[in-house]
Amino acid sequence: MEKFTTNSEQETIDLGRKFAEKLKSGDIVSFRGDLGAGKTEFIKGICEYFQVEQVVSSPTFTIINTYYGIDREEIIHIDLYRLEKEKELIEIGFDEILNDDYTIKLIEWSEKAQILNTNSDYLIEITHDEKLEDRRAIIISEV
Ligand SMILES: Nc1ncnc2c1ncn2[C@@H]1O[C@H](COP(=O)(O)OP(=O)(O)OP(=O)(O)O)[C@@H](O)[C@H]1O
Ligand SMILES: [Mg+2]
Repeated sequence: MEKFTTNSEQETIDLGRKFAEKLKSGDIVSFRGDLGAGKTEFIKGICEYFQVEQVVSSPTFTIINTYYGIDREEIIHIDLYRLEKEKELIEIGFDEILNDDYTIKLIEWSEKAQILNTNSDYLIEITHDEKLEDRRAIIISEV
């Protein structure tokens, strides 16, 4: 487990870019943290590492975004915030997505899917600082 503090959106992006160096195809990265914690900013950093050209944004309404890195790495960005029942995961083919060894999976609001408690490779937990508006505590653990 590693703990970090960031003091700006840019520092969180930079941390995401650095973290991405260790990612390989098939990896599942779960994200926890309140609305506006910085999960998507961290993911922007991961996508920068892979030189994704598409716009990276929280896929809250579509649930799933797919991006491609410069070397054709496929990155699946999922936001489960709007998920109401775990049954809905079947409709989006969640199991198949998780089992795809060719894609990197980045999943916001991972606590909405129990299976991710045991099936993630990394967990990124982001919390707001109580006093400083732009400060975040970020804990990265291997699961
Ligand atoms: N240190 C920081 N790290 C990350 N974001 C920060 C930081 N300081 C301020 N911010 C701001 O906080 C917001 C984080 O938004 P972001 O979309 O990444 O949150 P999120 O965790 O993905 O939320 P949601 O659950 O709504 O998708 C941005 O507006 C960003 O500019
Ligand atoms: Mg988000």
